[in-house]
Amino acid sequence: MVSHKRVLTGIQPSGTLHIGNYFGTMRQSIAAQAENECFYFIANFHAMTSMPKPEDLRERTFNVALDFLACGLDPEKTVFYRQSDVPQVQTLAWILSCLCPLGLLERCHSYKDKVAHGLEANHGLLAYPVLMAADILLYNADYVPVGKDQKQHLEVTRDLAIRFNNRYGSILTVPDALIQEDVAVIPGLDGQKMSKSYNNTIEIFGEGKPVRSKFMKIKTDSTPVEDPKDPDKCTVFMLYKLMATEAEQAELRQKYLAGGMGYGYAKELLYNKYLDYFAEARERRRQLLEKPGQVEEILREGARKASKIADATMAKVLAAVGL
Ligand code: ADP
Ligand code: TRP
Repeated sequence: MVSHKRVLTGIQPSGTLHIGNYFGTMRQSIAAQAENECFYFIANFHAMTSMPKPEDLRERTFNVALDFLACGLDPEKTVFYRQSDVPQVQTLAWILSCLCPLGLLERCHSYKDKVAHGLEANHGLLAYPVLMAADILLYNADYVPVGKDQKQHLEVTRDLAIRFNNRYGSILTVPDALIQEDVAVIPGLDGQKMSKSYNNTIEIFGEGKPVRSKFMKIKTDSTPVEDPKDPDKCTVFMLYKLMATEAEQAELRQKYLAGGMGYGYAKELLYNKYLDYFAEARERRRQLLEKPGQVEEILREGARKASKIADATMAKVLAAVGL
């Protein structure tokens, strides 16, 4: 990532964060805060498009905050906030809506996919990319790291920024997407992509028997214990590689290749590695959980910082459009 640029991304609070989320994006986002000015927010307005129960939405939003802070997001370095705490975004979304041809939204794959999967074709779902554009343009973000599935939404954002600037003068920053193409797909328990929709996840902060038994259920082939095994085709080894040192990986690779090792042994090793790898974060999470008020205060402080920038952008935007 380029230094000292403003990097902004949103995370939907749609369920418990898993190690696919962690190794796929969270780890990189957290590392980016050392070199950039980062804005990360929890997209709870966007999460409403799936109409969660109010208590679930509130709880998931809090848990995402807790997990990111536990994993090392530093609120001193990163502006970390809840989308709904900076409601100026809705005003900008409305202004952008008035510039947005319907066809641009109707063409979005994500909208078409969701409707094809049975979600109601309502206005929120259709307007989702306009709100996302407002999230980004409100803060003059330079770069927006997102998964491939969000690429088209970033194109909508750029298009709307250009339309706005052409009509009202150069006010909005046209952002670049940082598409995370090279991110390895982290496999889940069944060897497919780990995803909450496939029910094959390992949560970052799982504990005790339930999570241990998930590790023991990771799908492996039926090579007998005494035979050599291919580490590079094994989900257990792929996950181990994410967390173990080079020396530890080499040692386990050797055991696979030599034969005489059962998969149960590798799974146990992986489980213990996972406990170790996230031990510090787990401890931080435990401490934060004891002081939920502190998490709330961090989010409010983030919203205060975000609001200042939002107000400055909106002052220019409102004057330019004649409101
Ligand atoms: P899920 O597939 O569980 O619904 P999301 O779509 O909410 O996950 O993903 C949130 C972020 O985590 C996205 O940026 C996505 O690219 C990343 N991510 C999710 N699962 C994986 C995975 N198995 N491997 C790599 N990255 C992932
Ligand atoms: N739509 C994004 C997702 O589902 C979340 C999101 C909302 C977002 N607003 C954003 C991401 C602005 C980047 C920038 O992953």
